[in-house]
Amino acid sequence: MEALRLLFLFLLGPTVALALTHKLPSLKPGLSLSVEKEGQLLVSPEGSFSSGFYRVGTNVYCYAIWFTNSAEKTVVWMANRDRPVNGKGSRLTLHRNGNLVLTDADGSIVWSTDTFSDGEVEVQLLETGNLVLINQAKEVIWESFDFPTDTLLPTQPLTRNTSLVSMRSRDTFSSGFYRFQFDDNNLLNLVYDGPVVSSVYWPLTVFFSRRTPYNSTKIAALNNMGRFRSSDNLKFNASDYGVGPKRRLTLDYDGILRLYSLDELTGIWEIAWLPSGVDACLVHGLCGEYGVCRYNPLPSCACPDGFDRNDPSDWTKGCSPSFNMSCAPAELGFMELLHTDYFGYDLNSYNIGISLEACKNACLNDCTCKGFGYALDGQGQCYPKRYLLNGYHMPDTAMIMHIKVPKGIMASQAGGEKLRTYDQLNCSTPEIVLRNINAGAENPNKNWYMKYLISFAGSVAVIEIVFIGLGWWFVFRKRIREELVNMGYIVLAMGFKHFTFGELKRATRNFREEIGRGGFGTVYKGVLDDKRIVAVKRLEGIILQGDSEFWAEVSIIGKINHRNLVKMWGFCAENDDKLLVYEYLENGSLDKILFSADSAMRLGWEQRYNIAIGTAKGLSYLHEECLEWVLHCDVKPQNILLDDHLEPKVTDFGLSKLFKDTNDMGFSRVRGTRGYLAPEWMINLRINAKADVYSYGVVLLELLTGKRASGFNLATAEGSGHNQMVQWFRLKIQEQELEEVIDPRLEKRCHKKEVQRMVRVALLCVEDDRDTRPAMSKVVELLVGEEELVPNEEMTD
Ligand SMILES: *[C@@H]1O[C@H](CO)[C@@H](O)[C@H](O)[C@H]1NC(C)=O
Ligand SMILES: *[C@@H]1O[C@H](CO)[C@@H](O)[C@H](O)[C@H]1NC(C)=O
Ligand SMILES: *[C@@H]1O[C@H](CO)[C@@H](O)[C@H](O)[C@H]1NC(C)=O
Ligand SMILES: *[C@@H]1O[C@H](CO)[C@@H](O)[C@H](O)[C@H]1NC(C)=O
Ligand SMILES: *[C@@H]1O[C@H](CO)[C@@H](O)[C@H](O)[C@H]1NC(C)=O
Repeated sequence: MEALRLLFLFLLGPTVALALTHKLPSLKPGLSLSVEKEGQLLVSPEGSFSSGFYRVGTNVYCYAIWFTNSAEKTVVWMANRDRPVNGKGSRLTLHRNGNLVLTDADGSIVWSTDTFSDGEVEVQLLETGNLVLINQAKEVIWESFDFPTDTLLPTQPLTRNTSLVSMRSRDTFSSGFYRFQFDDNNLLNLVYDGPVVSSVYWPLTVFFSRRTPYNSTKIAALNNMGRFRSSDNLKFNASDYGVGPKRRLTLDYDGILRLYSLDELTGIWEIAWLPSGVDACLVHGLCGEYGVCRYNPLPSCACPDGFDRNDPSDWTKGCSPSFNMSCAPAELGFMELLHTDYFGYDLNSYNIGISLEACKNACLNDCTCKGFGYALDGQGQCYPKRYLLNGYHMPDTAMIMHIKVPKGIMASQAGGEKLRTYDQLNCSTPEIVLRNINAGAENPNKNWYMKYLISFAGSVAVIEIVFIGLGWWFVFRKRIREELVNMGYIVLAMGFKHFTFGELKRATRNFREEIGRGGFGTVYKGVLDDKRIVAVKRLEGIILQGDSEFWAEVSIIGKINHRNLVKMWGFCAENDDKLLVYEYLENGSLDKILFSADSAMRLGWEQRYNIAIGTAKGLSYLHEECLEWVLHCDVKPQNILLDDHLEPKVTDFGLSKLFKDTNDMGFSRVRGTRGYLAPEWMINLRINAKADVYSYGVVLLELLTGKRASGFNLATAEGSGHNQMVQWFRLKIQEQELEEVIDPRLEKRCHKKEVQRMVRVALLCVEDDRDTRPAMSKVVELLVGEEELVPNEEMTD
């Protein structure tokens, strides 16, 4: 009897143990997983992933999927992270009607797939970590990959419908405030989406990166090799690129997106990629309102003097003033925080040339203004703010934050550090922070900033302009501007601004002074509030319907920056009013000077040659060096503006995209101006950059001869695709009558070699066969020439 019992136990023993960690390949209809049986798990075929009830607190659980082999259970998905269930009586049941349901102890439904199936279904955990519901036909009717939480696994797509949302804190699995998702401009970004405000903190800028807002597909994924690709052209590789390690892309609770690879031997996750430019203090929402973050050396938060922490256990709740704030300007003053700034939430988006006194007064007289940033760098940039959020302290910034406080407070706070002792944040896992932020750099901020600069490297010209023209600080400041509320990077980059209609109406005194009229609309002169003189173009015609499309296009034009291209400073899009704001050029357009009867306005040879070269450089930049290829399609003297030094700047580029008459095959109707059109416009060839080269060639002929292309008989010519001016010029050259065609107003005071060079280039540019025409960059080379130039010798023959 005793022996029998022993034998029974011996036989039963392993079965009982097996039941404790019962690994199921699938869940069949009518069956449940119960929270009490923690060992009851769904396991993927090769065991990489396990799925079951995961303990998130004392007696509370969530249904989750995690990596089986990591040292600490690493959860990649949860069914119900915002609503955990009781540790007793909760279960996950696959009903016979095909619905997978999670119920709490009291039987209430906490989560379900809301699926339905007539036939047999089953739940499986795939080797990819995807929990799927499969019907008899082996079709997937529901999958967890469609409902990511904070982690994206290899082969799992991120789509327009999905986003990664961080955990609330290190130990709190519920949804936090950080998101990784596609925005309205089709770009992937990191957003702090807090209870009160929302702001983009990565990318810092899309300018100079290869990202594009054009692809509205909105899809991104990591593959098994560790390569991430997105429809907006964001691409990166895991540092241990290749098949092998298990990986995950997780938006951590500290707001930083990290790609991790698992070291199978130790079970430890190694960081395989991080977005450049994001580190702890730059993540938004960290220290709450009024709070300031700094590296100490780990990221730490502090309240300014006179302010107290709202919640000693949670920095994101920020600080509150320990005094009563009045609204009367006479009772208020400012407390200065050196090397400190708060990101975003400006009352007026961008003010330059404002004195410190004026900035102070503006803030004092506005009750909603909580303070302002001002740098004593001579730029006079004033940033009054409605909220003091996303504060950071960086030794490198020249920005001084002025916080509005009652006068009495200031007196008692004179001198010394104005921030209360920094409290180390219990944010990122310390070793991650150390590796990430302190790796090889004494000053993390500088390191970060250098990375940012290096990302510029493609555009040396821009760096030059920025450095020489605007100064170092301005770049820095701009970068911050780009992060403005929700609008993210588009606004204010390179001083690019979103104007209101009212502002422009005021600037142009209700569109009083018309200075030009072109294919795209009428241009008015105006003066902005900051005294800059501008040319405001009011667009007319069929404009892109979608505002986000308009924004995307305009922002592309806005980021184009070249000495020989007219700079766009901003735009306005309000309902049907679409306006573009450009720098104003005193000397007007080339045609006004070149064809002027007023001899005082005459252009000498040197000026003409310089205009030819500058224009070629501008077009060459548009054609070849911009991130986005831009065809001008309407090169003519009216679109070449001259600055005070008669340096040419091409205008009106990139606008054809704003109008709806383009199709995939190119342009459906002729865009340019008669007299300058390349022959291929007439024969319905797909238009390419060589059409601009042709028009440019005609402009060269005009510079040489001083005659207007439109002065020739166009009516008969255009239809046949033959340009009368070109034909006339060719003929004269063949007949060796060069002297006869050169503008008599030049009075032979030309540089002979340059004239010959320009004639040669012009003739190449107006070749009928577009493949024979040189590219614009070649034109620049030809005009600049290798031969040494002797200053103005008289033309003799
Ligand atoms: C996104 O959701 C819409 C409707 O909710 C659906 O029609 C579409 O197929 C989904 N797209 C993707 C990529 O899942
Ligand atoms: C958009 O992105 C998808 C996925 O990356 C790609 O397949 C497609 O070709 C892209 N479309 C365009 C127009 O670039
Ligand atoms: C990733 O690695 C592959 C293969 O080495 C390479 O072709 C690709 O250009 C890399 N992509 C990036 C963004 O570095
Ligand atoms: C602020 O005002 C409230 C009432 O309006 C008063 O009770 C409180 O004492 C004031 N606090 C300080 C610091 O003056
Ligand atoms: C950070 O966490 C540690 C324990 O993990 C705790 O002792 C410390 O008080 C926390 N600090 C703050 C500022 O919350």
